[in-house]
Amino acid sequence: MLDTQLLRLCLELARAAGDHAARCRRAGLGTPDHKSSATDVVTACDRSTESLIVERLREERPDDGLRGEEGTDTVGTSGFVWHIDPIDGTTNFVYGNPNWCTSIGVADADGTVAGAVYLPESGELFSAARGAGATLNGIAISVSGATELSQSLVGTGFGYRAEHRQMQSTRLAAMITEFRDIRRSGSAAIDLCAVACGRLDAYFEDFLHPWDIAAGELIAREAGAQSCNFSGGPAHPEDIVVASPAVLEPLRVLIASTVIPRSAP
Ligand code: IPD
Repeated sequence: MLDTQLLRLCLELARAAGDHAARCRRAGLGTPDHKSSATDVVTACDRSTESLIVERLREERPDDGLRGEEGTDTVGTSGFVWHIDPIDGTTNFVYGNPNWCTSIGVADADGTVAGAVYLPESGELFSAARGAGATLNGIAISVSGATELSQSLVGTGFGYRAEHRQMQSTRLAAMITEFRDIRRSGSAAIDLCAVACGRLDAYFEDFLHPWDIAAGELIAREAGAQSCNFSGGPAHPEDIVVASPAVLEPLRVLIASTVIPRSAP
Protein backbone atom coordinates (compact mmCIF):
# COMPACT_ATOMS: atom_id res chain seq x y z
CA MET A 1 0.00 0.00 0.00
CA LEU A 2 2.76 2.41 1.03
CA ASP A 3 4.76 1.38 -2.06
CA THR A 4 1.80 2.35 -4.26
CA GLN A 5 1.58 5.76 -2.59
CA LEU A 6 5.32 6.29 -2.96
CA LEU A 7 5.17 5.26 -6.62
CA ARG A 8 2.29 7.68 -7.24
CA LEU A 9 4.33 10.49 -5.69
CA CYS A 10 7.41 9.57 -7.79
CA LEU A 11 5.27 9.71 -10.94
CA GLU A 12 3.65 13.04 -10.05
CA LEU A 13 6.94 14.65 -9.09
CA ALA A 14 8.90 13.36 -12.09
CA ARG A 15 6.27 14.61 -14.50
CA ALA A 16 5.83 18.02 -12.81
CA ALA A 17 9.57 18.53 -12.47
CA GLY A 18 10.42 17.38 -16.00
CA ASP A 19 7.76 19.65 -17.49
CA HIS A 20 9.09 22.53 -15.39
CA ALA A 21 12.64 21.86 -16.69
CA ALA A 22 11.40 21.78 -20.29
CA ARG A 23 9.57 25.11 -19.82
CA CYS A 24 12.63 26.56 -18.13
CA ARG A 25 14.79 25.62 -21.11
CA ARG A 26 12.38 27.15 -23.58
CA ALA A 27 12.44 30.38 -21.52
CA GLY A 28 16.22 30.58 -21.99
CA LEU A 29 19.18 28.75 -20.51
CA GLY A 30 21.37 31.61 -19.34
CA THR A 31 25.06 30.86 -18.89
CA PRO A 32 25.70 27.39 -17.42
CA ASP A 33 28.02 27.04 -14.39
CA HIS A 34 30.60 24.29 -13.90
CA LYS A 35 30.82 21.71 -11.12
CA SER A 36 33.44 18.93 -10.79
CA SER A 37 35.28 19.94 -13.99
CA ALA A 38 35.02 22.44 -16.84
CA THR A 39 32.93 19.90 -18.80
CA ASP A 40 30.49 19.21 -15.92
CA VAL A 41 27.81 21.84 -16.48
CA VAL A 42 24.86 22.87 -14.34
CA THR A 43 22.14 25.33 -15.31
CA ALA A 44 19.65 27.47 -13.40
CA CYS A 45 17.03 24.99 -14.69
CA ASP A 46 18.77 22.08 -12.87
CA ARG A 47 18.66 24.08 -9.64
CA SER A 48 15.07 25.35 -9.91
CA THR A 49 13.85 21.87 -10.87
CA GLU A 50 15.52 20.32 -7.83
CA SER A 51 13.99 23.07 -5.63
CA LEU A 52 10.53 22.30 -6.98
CA ILE A 53 10.89 18.60 -6.12
CA VAL A 54 12.40 19.29 -2.70
CA GLU A 55 9.66 21.78 -1.72
CA ARG A 56 6.96 19.26 -2.64
CA LEU A 57 8.69 16.46 -0.73
CA ARG A 58 9.17 18.63 2.36
CA GLU A 59 5.41 19.21 2.39
CA GLU A 60 4.35 15.63 1.62
CA ARG A 61 7.10 13.60 3.32
CA PRO A 62 8.62 15.84 6.02
CA ASP A 63 10.32 12.96 7.86
CA ASP A 64 12.13 11.48 4.85
CA GLY A 65 15.76 12.04 3.92
CA LEU A 66 16.48 13.89 0.66
CA ARG A 67 19.57 13.70 -1.56
CA GLY A 68 19.78 15.62 -4.80
CA GLU A 69 22.39 16.17 -7.49
CA GLU A 70 22.34 19.93 -7.00
CA GLY A 71 23.25 19.85 -3.33
CA THR A 72 20.17 18.80 -1.36
CA ASP A 73 21.30 16.62 1.54
CA THR A 74 18.77 16.29 4.37
CA VAL A 75 18.87 13.51 6.92
CA GLY A 76 15.41 12.11 7.75
CA THR A 77 13.95 10.06 10.57
CA SER A 78 11.48 7.80 8.69
CA GLY A 79 14.02 5.40 7.14
CA PHE A 80 13.10 6.54 3.60
CA VAL A 81 15.54 8.52 1.46
CA TRP A 82 14.68 10.23 -1.84
CA HIS A 83 17.33 10.30 -4.57
CA ILE A 84 16.68 13.19 -6.94
CA ASP A 85 18.29 13.92 -10.30
CA PRO A 86 16.39 16.97 -11.57
CA ILE A 87 18.01 16.77 -15.02
CA ASP A 88 20.00 13.64 -15.88
CA GLY A 89 21.73 14.30 -19.16
CA THR A 90 22.45 17.97 -18.48
CA THR A 91 24.93 18.19 -21.36
CA ASN A 92 22.22 16.98 -23.76
CA PHE A 93 19.80 19.47 -22.17
CA VAL A 94 22.22 22.35 -22.77
CA TYR A 95 22.77 21.33 -26.41
CA GLY A 96 19.06 20.90 -27.19
CA ASN A 97 19.44 17.12 -27.53
CA PRO A 98 16.12 15.67 -26.28
CA ASN A 99 17.79 12.78 -24.45
CA TRP A 100 17.50 14.04 -20.88
CA CYS A 101 15.17 13.15 -18.05
CA THR A 102 14.07 13.76 -14.50
CA SER A 103 14.82 10.77 -12.24
CA ILE A 104 13.32 10.25 -8.78
CA GLY A 105 13.67 7.19 -6.59
CA VAL A 106 12.81 6.54 -2.94
CA ALA A 107 14.76 3.94 -0.98
CA ASP A 108 14.54 2.15 2.37
CA ALA A 109 17.20 0.01 4.05
CA ASP A 110 16.65 -2.75 1.44
CA GLY A 111 17.09 -0.51 -1.61
CA THR A 112 14.84 1.44 -3.92
CA VAL A 113 11.12 1.00 -3.19
CA ALA A 114 9.70 3.03 -6.08
CA GLY A 115 11.05 5.18 -8.88
CA ALA A 116 10.15 7.15 -11.99
CA VAL A 117 12.16 8.42 -14.96
CA TYR A 118 10.44 10.99 -17.18
CA LEU A 119 11.64 12.20 -20.59
CA PRO A 120 9.68 15.42 -21.17
CA GLU A 121 10.70 15.83 -24.83
CA SER A 122 9.26 12.43 -25.83
CA GLY A 123 6.61 12.12 -23.12
CA GLU A 124 8.01 8.75 -22.00
CA LEU A 125 7.42 7.97 -18.33
CA PHE A 126 9.15 4.84 -16.98
CA SER A 127 8.35 3.63 -13.49
CA ALA A 128 8.51 0.69 -11.11
CA ALA A 129 7.65 -0.30 -7.58
CA ARG A 130 9.57 -3.08 -5.86
CA GLY A 131 8.00 -6.46 -6.61
CA ALA A 132 5.34 -4.95 -8.88
CA GLY A 133 7.03 -4.86 -12.32
CA ALA A 134 8.03 -1.94 -14.52
CA THR A 135 6.02 0.14 -16.97
CA LEU A 136 6.48 2.65 -19.77
CA ASN A 137 3.51 5.03 -19.96
CA GLY A 138 1.51 2.49 -17.95
CA ILE A 139 2.30 -0.52 -20.16
CA ALA A 140 4.41 -3.39 -18.78
CA ILE A 141 7.93 -3.59 -20.19
CA SER A 142 10.57 -6.31 -20.18
CA VAL A 143 14.22 -6.79 -21.08
CA SER A 144 15.45 -8.02 -24.45
CA GLY A 145 16.23 -11.59 -23.46
CA ALA A 146 19.64 -11.41 -25.19
CA THR A 147 21.63 -14.62 -24.90
CA GLU A 148 25.05 -13.75 -26.41
CA LEU A 149 27.31 -10.92 -25.35
CA SER A 150 28.79 -10.86 -28.85
CA GLN A 151 25.32 -10.02 -30.20
CA SER A 152 24.49 -7.49 -27.47
CA LEU A 153 24.02 -3.75 -27.78
CA VAL A 154 25.74 -2.28 -24.72
CA GLY A 155 25.36 1.19 -23.23
CA THR A 156 27.91 3.02 -21.11
CA GLY A 157 28.93 6.51 -20.05
CA PHE A 158 31.93 8.53 -18.98
CA GLY A 159 32.61 10.60 -15.87
CA TYR A 160 33.52 14.28 -15.98
CA ARG A 161 36.98 14.00 -14.43
CA ALA A 162 39.79 13.57 -16.95
CA GLU A 163 41.44 10.68 -15.08
CA HIS A 164 38.13 8.78 -14.93
CA ARG A 165 37.49 9.29 -18.65
CA GLN A 166 40.99 8.19 -19.52
CA MET A 167 40.55 4.94 -17.61
CA GLN A 168 36.99 4.35 -18.88
CA SER A 169 37.93 4.94 -22.52
CA THR A 170 41.03 2.73 -22.29
CA ARG A 171 38.91 -0.05 -20.83
CA LEU A 172 36.20 0.40 -23.46
CA ALA A 173 38.73 0.30 -26.29
CA ALA A 174 39.93 -3.06 -24.96
CA MET A 175 36.38 -4.46 -24.86
CA ILE A 176 34.63 -2.99 -27.86
CA THR A 177 35.12 -5.89 -30.28
CA GLU A 178 33.28 -8.21 -27.86
CA PHE A 179 29.82 -6.61 -28.44
CA ARG A 180 27.44 -6.02 -31.33
CA ASP A 181 28.00 -2.29 -30.73
CA ILE A 182 28.19 0.36 -28.06
CA ARG A 183 25.92 3.36 -27.25
CA ARG A 184 26.56 6.45 -25.11
CA SER A 185 23.27 8.30 -24.61
CA GLY A 186 24.43 10.92 -22.11
CA SER A 187 21.99 9.92 -19.35
CA ALA A 188 22.58 6.99 -17.04
CA ALA A 189 18.91 6.92 -15.98
CA ILE A 190 17.80 6.71 -19.62
CA ASP A 191 20.37 3.96 -20.30
CA LEU A 192 18.95 1.91 -17.42
CA CYS A 193 15.40 2.39 -18.76
CA ALA A 194 16.68 1.40 -22.20
CA VAL A 195 17.82 -1.94 -20.74
CA ALA A 196 14.39 -2.26 -19.08
CA CYS A 197 12.53 -2.02 -22.39
CA GLY A 198 15.01 -3.88 -24.63
CA ARG A 199 16.52 -0.86 -26.43
CA LEU A 200 19.84 -1.95 -24.94
CA ASP A 201 20.82 -5.47 -23.89
CA ALA A 202 23.15 -4.25 -21.15
CA TYR A 203 24.67 -1.16 -19.55
CA PHE A 204 27.67 -0.52 -17.33
CA GLU A 205 29.35 2.53 -15.85
CA ASP A 206 31.40 3.63 -12.87
CA PHE A 207 31.87 6.81 -10.81
CA LEU A 208 28.13 7.53 -10.75
CA HIS A 209 26.04 8.87 -7.86
CA PRO A 210 22.99 7.41 -6.08
CA TRP A 211 20.60 9.78 -7.88
CA ASP A 212 21.85 8.57 -11.30
CA ILE A 213 20.78 4.97 -10.68
CA ALA A 214 18.19 4.79 -7.88
CA ALA A 215 15.08 4.83 -10.08
CA GLY A 216 16.56 3.38 -13.27
CA GLU A 217 18.16 0.33 -11.67
CA LEU A 218 14.86 -0.60 -9.98
CA ILE A 219 12.99 -0.11 -13.27
CA ALA A 220 15.49 -2.35 -15.09
CA ARG A 221 15.38 -5.08 -12.42
CA GLU A 222 11.59 -4.99 -12.26
CA ALA A 223 11.58 -5.44 -16.04
CA GLY A 224 13.65 -8.63 -15.66
CA ALA A 225 17.22 -7.35 -15.76
CA GLN A 226 19.84 -8.42 -13.26
CA SER A 227 22.47 -6.15 -11.75
CA CYS A 228 25.76 -6.32 -9.87
CA ASN A 229 28.96 -4.38 -9.40
CA PHE A 230 32.18 -5.11 -11.32
CA SER A 231 33.17 -7.71 -8.68
CA GLY A 232 29.82 -9.52 -8.67
CA GLY A 233 28.53 -7.93 -5.43
CA PRO A 234 25.46 -5.71 -5.17
CA ALA A 235 25.27 -2.94 -7.80
CA HIS A 236 26.57 0.40 -6.54
CA PRO A 237 26.88 3.89 -8.06
CA GLU A 238 30.66 3.47 -7.97
CA ASP A 239 30.39 0.53 -10.40
CA ILE A 240 27.27 -0.99 -11.88
CA VAL A 241 26.42 -3.55 -14.55
CA VAL A 242 22.76 -4.09 -15.51
CA ALA A 243 21.79 -6.57 -18.20
CA SER A 244 19.41 -9.09 -19.59
CA PRO A 245 20.13 -12.09 -17.32
CA ALA A 246 22.14 -14.30 -19.71
CA VAL A 247 24.64 -11.58 -20.59
CA LEU A 248 25.20 -10.11 -17.11
CA GLU A 249 27.99 -12.44 -15.98
CA PRO A 250 29.86 -12.57 -19.33
CA LEU A 251 29.83 -8.76 -19.40
CA ARG A 252 30.89 -8.47 -15.75
CA VAL A 253 33.79 -10.90 -16.28
CA LEU A 254 34.89 -8.98 -19.36
CA ILE A 255 34.82 -5.66 -17.49
CA ALA A 256 36.65 -7.13 -14.49
CA SER A 257 39.32 -8.62 -16.71
CA THR A 258 39.97 -5.28 -18.44
CA VAL A 259 39.89 -2.99 -15.40
CA ILE A 260 42.65 -0.43 -15.66
CA PRO A 261 44.26 0.69 -12.36
CA ARG A 262 42.60 3.80 -10.98
CA SER A 263 45.05 6.67 -10.86
CA ALA A 264 42.97 8.91 -8.59
CA PRO A 265 40.37 8.51 -5.87
C1 IPD B 1 25.63 12.20 -16.13
C2 IPD B 1 24.89 11.31 -17.10
C3 IPD B 1 25.86 10.58 -18.00
C4 IPD B 1 26.86 9.78 -17.22
C5 IPD B 1 27.59 10.68 -16.25
C6 IPD B 1 26.58 11.37 -15.33
P1 IPD B 1 24.34 14.43 -15.41
O1 IPD B 1 24.73 12.85 -15.25
O2 IPD B 1 24.09 10.38 -16.40
O3 IPD B 1 25.21 9.66 -18.87
O4 IPD B 1 27.76 9.17 -18.11
O5 IPD B 1 28.48 9.88 -15.52
O6 IPD B 1 27.28 12.20 -14.43
O7 IPD B 1 25.57 15.18 -15.07
O8 IPD B 1 23.89 14.63 -16.81
O9 IPD B 1 23.25 14.60 -14.41
